[in-house]
Amino acid sequence: STSSGRTGALNGKHILVTAGPTHEPIDPVRYIANRSSGRQGYAIAGALAALGAKVTLVSGPVTLATPPGVTRVDVETAQQMADTVTSALPADAAVMVAAVGDWRAETAVQKLKKGDTPPSLALSENPDILALLAHGPHRPGLVVGFAAETEKVIEHATAKRTRKGADWIVANDVSGDVMGGEANAVHLVTADGVESWERLPKGEVARRLASRIADALTTAPK
Ligand code: CTP
Ligand code: CA
Repeated sequence: STSSGRTGALNGKHILVTAGPTHEPIDPVRYIANRSSGRQGYAIAGALAALGAKVTLVSGPVTLATPPGVTRVDVETAQQMADTVTSALPADAAVMVAAVGDWRAETAVQKLKKGDTPPSLALSENPDILALLAHGPHRPGLVVGFAAETEKVIEHATAKRTRKGADWIVANDVSGDVMGGEANAVHLVTADGVESWERLPKGEVARRLASRIADALTTAPK
């Protein structure tokens, strides 16, 4: 399709986007987080809205303005993000850009105090929101995941696509300054193979991806 990049290409479609880091509390004043700025996810939410989609953006703690036309729901933890994603269904597509914390700590009710020995954190694994969505009863027709890798980028991303049940994985090498940076070099991993895009500003990655999503949602399935 050549109309996919045009205004209105996603009219009537509901698209769910997750973005940003999560904060996993340790005690009332401390948390575990990661370097995600939310920029790539926010740019994607904005680009989808610009094509006419109704966008629900489930966002971890970031310092970004909500893009025009986007409905934003703020969450803090991975568990809250999982619950919010479930409540936002059904959706025609989901784009899971969030850097979800893989582990949560047991949260102390009172602030931990310094003592003779530093505290150890007992971590448990968080729900995999993407995998739950892709294998769940209300699976969106198109499920797109991201893969943040520092090595063997395509190999790991290809394995993630299968393991998580995603249709596409957007793989990015986060070994440089990608997290928090302005540009992104990504590989689009689909059932048809791998497409490597040149290093682009995050806004341009977002527009290209939104246009591809419009193609996929407006072309009859094979
Ligand atoms: N993801 C998710 N829920 C989680 C962890 C990850 O929805 N608890 C999603 C991310 O939003 C992303 C994709 O899964 O779309 C891949 O995230 P990533 O951290 O790269 O993969 P993991 O499976 O967590 O593997 P690892 O961190 O060990 O590389
Ligand atoms: Ca992870």
